[in-house]
Amino acid sequence: MKVSIIGLATSLLASSVAAAPGCAGNISTGSFDMARKLVEFAFNVNDTSVWDELAEMTDLYGNRMTASVQYARSADWVMRDVKNYPSITAWTENVPVDYWKRGTESVHLYVPTREDPMVSLPMLGLGQSVGTGPGGIEANVIPVSSFEELEKLGNATIAGNIVLYNADFVSYGDNSKYRFYGAQKAEAYGAVGALVQSITGYSLVTPHTGTMDPSGIPAAAISVEDSKLITRMYNRHQQAKANPSMHNADLFVAPKVKLVMNAQNHVNHTMQPNIIMDIKGSEKPEEIVIISGHFDSWDVGVGAMDDGAGAFCSYGALKMISRLPRRPKRTVRVVMWNNEESFSRGADGYFEAHKNELDNHVFAMESDIGNFEPWGMQVNAPQEYVDKLSAYGQLLLPSIGGGNVTRVDDEPAVDISPLCSYGIPCGGFEPVDKYSHAPPLSPAGYEGYFRFHHTDADRMDALDKHQLRRNAAAMAVWAYVIADE
Ligand SMILES: *[C@@H]1O[C@H](CO)[C@@H](O)[C@H](O)[C@H]1NC(C)=O
Ligand SMILES: *[C@@H]1O[C@H](CO)[C@@H](O)[C@H](O)[C@H]1NC(C)=O
Ligand SMILES: *[C@@H]1O[C@H](CO)[C@@H](O)[C@H](O)[C@H]1NC(C)=O
Ligand SMILES: *[C@@H]1O[C@H](CO)[C@@H](O)[C@H](O)[C@H]1NC(C)=O
Ligand SMILES: *[C@@H]1O[C@H](CO)[C@@H](O)[C@H](O)[C@H]1NC(C)=O
Repeated sequence: MKVSIIGLATSLLASSVAAAPGCAGNISTGSFDMARKLVEFAFNVNDTSVWDELAEMTDLYGNRMTASVQYARSADWVMRDVKNYPSITAWTENVPVDYWKRGTESVHLYVPTREDPMVSLPMLGLGQSVGTGPGGIEANVIPVSSFEELEKLGNATIAGNIVLYNADFVSYGDNSKYRFYGAQKAEAYGAVGALVQSITGYSLVTPHTGTMDPSGIPAAAISVEDSKLITRMYNRHQQAKANPSMHNADLFVAPKVKLVMNAQNHVNHTMQPNIIMDIKGSEKPEEIVIISGHFDSWDVGVGAMDDGAGAFCSYGALKMISRLPRRPKRTVRVVMWNNEESFSRGADGYFEAHKNELDNHVFAMESDIGNFEPWGMQVNAPQEYVDKLSAYGQLLLPSIGGGNVTRVDDEPAVDISPLCSYGIPCGGFEPVDKYSHAPPLSPAGYEGYFRFHHTDADRMDALDKHQLRRNAAAMAVWAYVIADE
């Protein structure tokens, strides 16, 4: 079995070489040979180091909420590990970070026909939410499927109640507005709290947390299943109100919940680092190619997929480059960003601290949308630059994936967006979907990713050892070639 995989690798490499003069041509043999070695690393089935190291760190320290002790300990683990690689120069740059501490929290739904009428619902408070106070709040729930519906119901229906946003999953872009702005908009109509149906197309009664915009009322995510349960209760109650003689009308109470959240927000709680690692360029060390992922995570699961994998595939790529006999001309820099999940202080802090050398940044890549089979990059850059990258991808990466390139107008990942806005060509490194195997931007593109996103299930088991190695190798090829050409 192993032999045949290696045989396949060799024949694919051979066909890449054969295709070279026709399809891309303009790559120096030095870069080409090193890219070939990196692709060979991708086929070494015995190298599971990217997955194993992320597992070791997350098993030891757990998740990495920005400003938490666990973030600091995990960062120390990385700084200790990188000492094993003499050709990598690593340092940390601190940024001020807020600490949102979840505290104890619960949602109970009142269903008087159950043996225990206070039914406990799995829930996760939304990041940055205010707390309810220790006594919690108790109110009826009014489901709405859109902001238009909320507006139509208005103060008369909403005031004094908790609003539930129950829209079905279309895409993260479409649905996340309810998580971001739902509480704020409900508050304007006098609501006392907000519940949001978790942003996912597939649920095993799993709540998904995430950040929200400031609001004076508390907000929490509940599972898709419980959002639908509350909606059915509401609809039956409405029917019973309109038609009191209907069958079972006396059993159909309005959905009422008790929400308790002891969340606390500590502004500028501490200073914590971005982690930065360089392999210095051989000819133009001052010019920089960034490959990156964010190091912070939510305080649930262990942040394996979001975005331990992006950070560790970047780090794994740098380690692969460190094993090559020839350094690229420019510096390859890994950044593990802090604070992506709340205020992007890591990205802003890097931009500020490196203001004087922004013009030396030739490319910035981030991986933060899953590391399954590598697909390629969405690149924000002029079309001819994108065409050039596309030719490299087709030449170097068809055997492992990760070589597709499409141009986008917006910033393809959160932490690199200040650099993109400044005009530095930038790329979001993306996978084919975990389950649908659909490419990015297609309707099923990220469905598998959002099964795990911001949940307790974001554990090592969401990731595959061999896929992580292929991701690291593909990112290494991109970093090397861009830094060397
Ligand atoms: C290779 O370089 C030539 C001359 O500079 C250019 O016309 C051609 O488009 C380039 N090909 C690719 C694939 O970039
Ligand atoms: C992987 O390890 C096995 C057992 O040590 C060895 O026989 C095999 O050659 C190795 N494969 C590669 C690609 O290094
Ligand atoms: C709706 O309720 C909010 C909060 O109670 C109040 O500030 C606002 O003036 C009300 N708006 C209308 C149109 O009644
Ligand atoms: C917290 O730090 C940020 C970033 O340095 C700063 O803009 C803000 O004013 C600080 N807030 C407080 C309350 O100190
Ligand atoms: C492009 O993506 C497809 C999967 O959608 C993959 O099979 C192929 O290898 C990728 N191409 C390159 C050049 O990476």
